[in-house]
Amino acid sequence: MNTRPIPSSGEALPVIGVGTYVGFDQAPGSAAYAALPGVVEALFDAGGKVFDSSPMYGRAEETIGELLAANGRRDDAFIATKVWTRGKAEGMRQMEASMRLLRSERIDLMQIHNLVDWRAHLVTLHGWKERGRIRYLGITHYTSSAYAEVEAVLRAEPLDFLQINYALDEREAERRVLPLAAERGVAVIVNRPFGGGGLMRRLANTPLPAWAAEIGCTSWAQLLLKFVLSHPAVTCAIPGTGRREHMEDDVRAGLGEVPPPAFWKDKLAALGY
Ligand SMILES: NC(=O)c1ccc[n+]([C@@H]2O[C@H](COP(=O)([O-])OP(=O)(O)OC[C@H]3O[C@@H](n4cnc5c(N)ncnc54)[C@H](OP(=O)(O)O)[C@@H]3O)[C@@H](O)[C@H]2O)c1
Repeated sequence: MNTRPIPSSGEALPVIGVGTYVGFDQAPGSAAYAALPGVVEALFDAGGKVFDSSPMYGRAEETIGELLAANGRRDDAFIATKVWTRGKAEGMRQMEASMRLLRSERIDLMQIHNLVDWRAHLVTLHGWKERGRIRYLGITHYTSSAYAEVEAVLRAEPLDFLQINYALDEREAERRVLPLAAERGVAVIVNRPFGGGGLMRRLANTPLPAWAAEIGCTSWAQLLLKFVLSHPAVTCAIPGTGRREHMEDDVRAGLGEVPPPAFWKDKLAALGY
């Protein structure tokens, strides 16, 4: 899989990871849970490693911990999770709980979920990074109504990562957020690359355009992910899935050439976006 450097360290990060919001919130014993080792295997087999979670995602952190313990591949994974609560002490308690559930003494990336009480948590994250409890720190959001605050934090604070929504039908981040992240040397993880799934549902009955083959895409998922990866500020995209066949499809967007932004100019209008 293609990789891109994390600006603050130069470490290479594979461009497609997995989001665990709904797909990994499954009870052991269920059919949906039984499908998850296959999702993880498909990601690793393609050369991917990024798992994104949060204490907001039900059992997802615990599931990741279980699956990586079962396959013995914790050290091959890049685990990103989040703090999503108010207060410094409560934030520390929640992050300790995440580490227990993820069975990891060190988290690769700790993000402040939706900027909730970010001033309090950022102090903790800088301290934990210095002590080696986390490797990178960042912030996340998922809606353009929060971009003014996202931009203010990006300008004022040293961050390793920004996680933000960006998709064919959610392009507001192109205006200021993505250029600012690039200017500030902040890695970008794209969440909701399928608009939370709505884009996939809307395009399901539309035939794939002939030009998809020019950029090596055989599905809408690959095309939508290559669109996101075309933005030069983007480091990695994390499509959410709990299905092996979807992961196998999604990771293919991380192979081969990514077209330049100019490629999409006339194509977007033709698609109705
Ligand atoms: N504020 C935040 O920090 C924030 C907010 C939102 C999301 N996130 C993160 O970003 C991740 C991605 O966002 P998301 O999960 O909300 O939305 P998304 O990635 O835009 O869409 C997920 C949907 O796409 C479907 N899908 C995935 N691959 C597919 C394929 N190849 N073909 C057809 N359908 C496919 C999934 O269904 P199946 O499960 O059936 O495959 C799921 O319904 C989340 O999981 C989470 O980790 C963070």
